[in-house]
Amino acid sequence: MNIAEIQGNTGTSTVMVGESISNLAQYVPLERTVVITDENVRHAYGHLLPDCPVLTIGTGETAKTLDTVGRLYESLMTLSADRSAFVVAVGGGIVCDVTGFVASTYLRGVRFGFVASTLLAQVDASVGGKNGVNVGGYKNMAGVFNQPEFVICDLDLLGTLPERDILCGFAEIIKHAAIIDRNLFAFLEDNGHRARELDRDVMAKLVFDSVRIKAAVVGRDEREAGERRKLNFGHTFGHAVEKVNGIPHGEAVALGMVVAAALSCRKGWLSREEVNRLEALIDSMGLPTRLDCDPKALFDAMKKDKKREGDAIHFVLLDGLGKAVVEKIDLAELEAAVHSLD
Ligand SMILES: NC(=O)c1ccc[n+]([C@@H]2O[C@H](COP(=O)([O-])OP(=O)(O)OC[C@H]3O[C@@H](n4cnc5c(N)ncnc54)[C@H](O)[C@@H]3O)[C@@H](O)[C@H]2O)c1
Repeated sequence: MNIAEIQGNTGTSTVMVGESISNLAQYVPLERTVVITDENVRHAYGHLLPDCPVLTIGTGETAKTLDTVGRLYESLMTLSADRSAFVVAVGGGIVCDVTGFVASTYLRGVRFGFVASTLLAQVDASVGGKNGVNVGGYKNMAGVFNQPEFVICDLDLLGTLPERDILCGFAEIIKHAAIIDRNLFAFLEDNGHRARELDRDVMAKLVFDSVRIKAAVVGRDEREAGERRKLNFGHTFGHAVEKVNGIPHGEAVALGMVVAAALSCRKGWLSREEVNRLEALIDSMGLPTRLDCDPKALFDAMKKDKKREGDAIHFVLLDGLGKAVVEKIDLAELEAAVHSLD
């Protein structure tokens, strides 16, 4: 097992990569613990949960709402959960985001931890202390910064994940390598094929390196006032593609990284050879690098991005592989880069 710690304003979060869900009982006060999970995870792993009440939510973004939060508050009240309660999410990013929000607000906050069961949750969603839900169909409009006491990343849980969900996690791992860690980037180039087979040693390294990278960034800028924005590499364009074309988040982020690399190249910060290396890595990990799309619709969606300021938008670019910079980009320049996907 490898351990990373995040020192947040609300406390320290211990992320354990390689720990098993079977050991969950060791980390919680069992008689006061309530588990929150979703239908799929309960079906696959319910038998491994400790002997405590289990609450189940639906799946998909439509379950990540204030309605679900309200129902969970009521279930906790029915269980007579008081301030000494300990709430554990067992699931992917949706279960973790909802549970973190519920635990942070129920009775003004009770203790909580996560067992992250998707690759995306292990390398990204469960790490960093952002918890929240969607409102009116808009993502993460209500939420809090609050660190879970622990995160268990059980690599054995990944074996039952559909391939598309694995790919979503790969996109975030590539992102971490591209913005901060050239060595991880080279490792991915050499071992991507083993990762796609979920080779245990390779996955253990990829998950831990991602956690280590995100933990370090969050430790320096928990509330996203500066450096944490780098973690949005590929996401400004990615969110627009997700909205317009309805493709999964990881695939959209992959395309967003291609656009951001094209922009970085136009600025002279990334060589053509480095752009090709990034695209080749994305492709080799089973993610898309080209999209049959309407550039105008995408550009219009991007203009609505939260990070826009007048005729410019805060955009994460690369100053060489392994080094991200946040720049204000002119909307006209951005429009030209969108055509790099044609
Ligand atoms: N808080 C953050 O910092 C942060 C960061 C990134 C993403 N997110 C959020 O994470 C969410 C996406 O998370 P996700 O990709 O994990 O999706 P998810 O939670 O919807 O899980 C994907 C699917 O896999 C199923 N599943 C989970 N674990 C499984 C397993 N081990 N075996 C088989 N099936 C399993 C789930 O039931 C679900 O159907 C989004 O809402 C996103 O906004 C949050």
